[in-house]
Amino acid sequence: MFDFSRLNKGLEKRCLDKLKRFLYDEWMINGGVLMMKRAFSGVQPTGNIHIGNYLGALRQFVELQETMDCFYCIVDLHSITVPQDPKELYEHSLDVAALYIATGLDPKKSTIFIQSTVPAHAELAWLLQCNSYTGELSRMTQFKDKSRNQESAPTGLFTYPILMAADILLYDANVVPVGNDQKQHIELTRDLAIRFNNKFGETFVVPEGKFNTFGARIMALDDPTKKMSKSAENPFSLISLLDTPQKVKKSIMRATTDSESEIRYDEENKPGISNLLTIYSLFSGLSISDLEKKYEGCGYGTFKKDLVEIINESLKDIQDRYQEIRKSDELIQILKEGKEKASEIANQTLIRAKKNLGFVLL
Ligand code: TYM
Repeated sequence: MFDFSRLNKGLEKRCLDKLKRFLYDEWMINGGVLMMKRAFSGVQPTGNIHIGNYLGALRQFVELQETMDCFYCIVDLHSITVPQDPKELYEHSLDVAALYIATGLDPKKSTIFIQSTVPAHAELAWLLQCNSYTGELSRMTQFKDKSRNQESAPTGLFTYPILMAADILLYDANVVPVGNDQKQHIELTRDLAIRFNNKFGETFVVPEGKFNTFGARIMALDDPTKKMSKSAENPFSLISLLDTPQKVKKSIMRATTDSESEIRYDEENKPGISNLLTIYSLFSGLSISDLEKKYEGCGYGTFKKDLVEIINESLKDIQDRYQEIRKSDELIQILKEGKEKASEIANQTLIRAKKNLGFVLL
């Protein structure tokens, strides 16, 4: 951090003008101070994290921690918007925390914490709820999908996107790395921040979503027209980061393809094989055209066998690290430290919002 306002005014302006032209995307100048941008994101502790979560979101988390000030949350308050078994919720929250670290998050570079340990999330969500409209929440496609076959949907499912907005806005996040199923929620977060700022004065940073250009939506293996989802009924529709090599093999070998045998990327006419090519490319680092060349005239069997190996190799490293960390005292310590650091920042933003709303602060 460098405070340019300590320089004399003429020099400060000249320095800032020059610097702005050379500034990396990851830095910003805020009130005369050169700062790292901040990233915030979260994952629900509902079931095991799958390769869609990993390729669409978690790998971005790990990349960003090298250049930004990162906050990553286990969003347990979100997960109770659908029924949860308390024992499983407890275990899954720690599983996700351990998987964050096993996939490469470094607690020295990223703040890792559990959402419900920072009460400001629920409090800001209420303040934002009172400044949002049922009409805009009714338009959320995720709410429509999740409530479709329910006679009566829980209220929390309806207000879910507001809690998500509170998560992001509490940390003055500039960037929110997510899969593209979260696009609409990020748009709503931006609308809420702008509306609040206009009504009550500058309070929140207006964040931007960060989506992978490739692999922002990994599709279900049994139905490549739907996204890979934790709530899928068919266990072979997804690959979890903790799946055994045998389960990975079964899931890939059964994955829906098409009646041809040509390995070619064509999302419209060959969605199944295109999805597998995307997964292969992201795990191996090889481009799609390299893969198309490599498997010219080979047939789906050989391609799928190699893909199983590539995935199992990557998962082995993650699983080894996961086993080390999951039962360790270190994990709880990391979450305690994360809670402290997150609370400090979240409480400052909450106070700012309450003050601007006219609340008496004692
Ligand atoms: P969740 O737990 O459903 O998913 C976690 C992350 O994984 C991404 N994702 C995918 N990416 C690619 N392909 C897929 N098939 C796929 N499925 C899921 C999601 O986009 C997400 O980035 N609402 C969020 C959790 C949340 C949050 C937040 C995120 C709560 N508060 C604040 C960001 C900022 C969710 O349901 O994640």
